[in-house]
Amino acid sequence: MSNILSITNVTVKFGGLVALNNFHINVRKGGISGVIGPNGAGKTTVFNIITGVYRPFSGSVLIDNKELVGLPTHFIAHYHVARTFQNIRLFSNMTVSENILSGAAIEREGDFFSSLFFLPKTRKKEKELQKKMEELLHFCGLEKFKDLPATSLPYGLQRKLEIARALMTNPKLLLLDEPAAGMNPTEKLALQELVKKISKQNISILLIEHDMKFVMNLCEHITVLNYGSVIAEGLPKEIQTNHEVIEAYLGSDVEDDFIVKMEKES
Ligand SMILES: Nc1ncnc2c1ncn2[C@@H]1O[C@H](COP(=O)(O)OP(=O)(O)OP(=O)(O)O)[C@@H](O)[C@H]1O
Ligand SMILES: [Mg+2]
Repeated sequence: MSNILSITNVTVKFGGLVALNNFHINVRKGGISGVIGPNGAGKTTVFNIITGVYRPFSGSVLIDNKELVGLPTHFIAHYHVARTFQNIRLFSNMTVSENILSGAAIEREGDFFSSLFFLPKTRKKEKELQKKMEELLHFCGLEKFKDLPATSLPYGLQRKLEIARALMTNPKLLLLDEPAAGMNPTEKLALQELVKKISKQNISILLIEHDMKFVMNLCEHITVLNYGSVIAEGLPKEIQTNHEVIEAYLGSDVEDDFIVKMEKES
């Protein structure tokens, strides 16, 4: 099975700080992979490299075997990569529906005259986008809230809305940065189901998450980062019992407790 994402030898530096050191990861087409690691390990930097926010000092980022390094961010969106943000970034002056529709900006782009005169082609496109937005409202369980201001929603639903907006771009690869942060256990479970449903639509997923249970339940492959370096990678079961991972998270004294906790959670 081929990979949708293949990162090799990526190093990122911010002044003297090495945020990623020879980083690598593969995400299988249709798969769900995870990146975990302590605070400041370099996880969000991985997403910023994939989306072109930062340019790596060295290395390669292939999406569907096409090199992304060096391309500007707006160009990378055409590669069907979408993301959500660790700190929610919704448009506060827009409704839930409008926020989802804003994800279609890229599909509207480049047809200036047709849009200016609202030609039939544009009307047809707008209708299609409206229909897709309605489908996504339903898919993400947000219909009830469609006319409400986005930021009036509870935190958990705002995170789902960010995902709906990302899906509006027709991604092949979806990057989720701590999607379960701040959610209660019921919201986390609902989100877990949503992520599975997205995956069944043949959208590959790379997720960053601190909640071990969430990661272990969803991911087929996990990469562990510490101080910018990959310290472990493999199946959830292999990661749970990896001593370097346990030490990176908690220090060696509490290893046994941690293994028990991870095993209970999974
Ligand atoms: N634009 C930047 N300029 C300078 N340093 C940065 C920048 N972005 C990230 N860093 C640093 O790079 C390191 C990795 O940051 P990153 O945000 O990728 O960590 P993270 O694993 O996502 O952490 P968290 O779990 O807290 O979200 C940190 O030390 C951070 O301070
Ligand atoms: Mg982060």
